[in-house]
Amino acid sequence: MNKKQVIIDTDPGIDDAVALAIALFSSEIDVKLITTVAGNVGLNHVTQNALKLLKFLNKDIPVAKGVGAPLIREIMDASSIHGETGMEGFIFEEPDDHLLLKEHAVNAMREVIMTSKESVTIIGIGPLTNIAMLLTMYPETKTAIKEIIFMGGSLTRGNSGVMSEYNIDFDPEAAKIVFNSGVRIVMVGLDLGLKALILPEDSTEIKEMNKVGDMFYHLFKRYRGGNMQNGLTMYDSTAIAYLLRPDIFDVVDTFMDVELTGKYTKGATIVDLEGFLNKESNATVCVDINQIEFKKWFLTSIKKCI
Ligand code: BDR
Ligand code: CA
Repeated sequence: MNKKQVIIDTDPGIDDAVALAIALFSSEIDVKLITTVAGNVGLNHVTQNALKLLKFLNKDIPVAKGVGAPLIREIMDASSIHGETGMEGFIFEEPDDHLLLKEHAVNAMREVIMTSKESVTIIGIGPLTNIAMLLTMYPETKTAIKEIIFMGGSLTRGNSGVMSEYNIDFDPEAAKIVFNSGVRIVMVGLDLGLKALILPEDSTEIKEMNKVGDMFYHLFKRYRGGNMQNGLTMYDSTAIAYLLRPDIFDVVDTFMDVELTGKYTKGATIVDLEGFLNKESNATVCVDINQIEFKKWFLTSIKKCI
């Protein structure tokens, strides 16, 4: 079986780190490139975090640094959730820069997409700024991309604004470009992440699994996406789960967009589940996840790490 050719665009981020490790140790995925984008914390921190993680995981995957701010808005920050550096709770060895490409992330993405024999899937687990830039600067990539699976948006309420999820709220203009690009998109939103919970007994099991599990346990103690007692939210891993196990999701093909200027709703995703807008579908939207199967998949995936 051919491996899935993937670029991961990310802002590590504790849940990003987990998603990256799962993807990197999966025998079904070939991660061609990791690109970083400002999101949870600033661009230098998230890029260093990606490099630190790769060193720890002993994986030689090229990393390209991307855009350091939303397209037009002020930068936001989620260090209250992930810690000052974005991956607080574990002391990683300092990485050298041999995996860091000189090229900008947007150019590096274009290169991978246009030279790959098989079409490439982009997994977006941060704000969509790099991906929007790619589709704008290099529209020829659109037909070469298999699909864009992104963690972001919400079917109900928000975690950044009343109705808006963080990755989309951070850069709604970028999200609008991606949603209306014509490339097939898959939304794995906040509602799914809130069901993909890691309970205290899971954290304890993960700690004992291997070196990676022990490192995650330390990050989990610092992570404020949910809490250790009632369950930690593994948002970004749900995008990897969709790539590998779409069978554990319920989906609806429909039209979706994002609010840019609502009085209270900037960054809210509008997902037309009932077909009110009579518009052609541009997205596959995940509306439910089998929590038991997700948990099994998640724990088995971490067991495959070193
Ligand atoms: C998303 O925002 C970030 O804090 C997480 O890494 C995830 O990508 C959840 O809203
Ligand atoms: Ca993220």
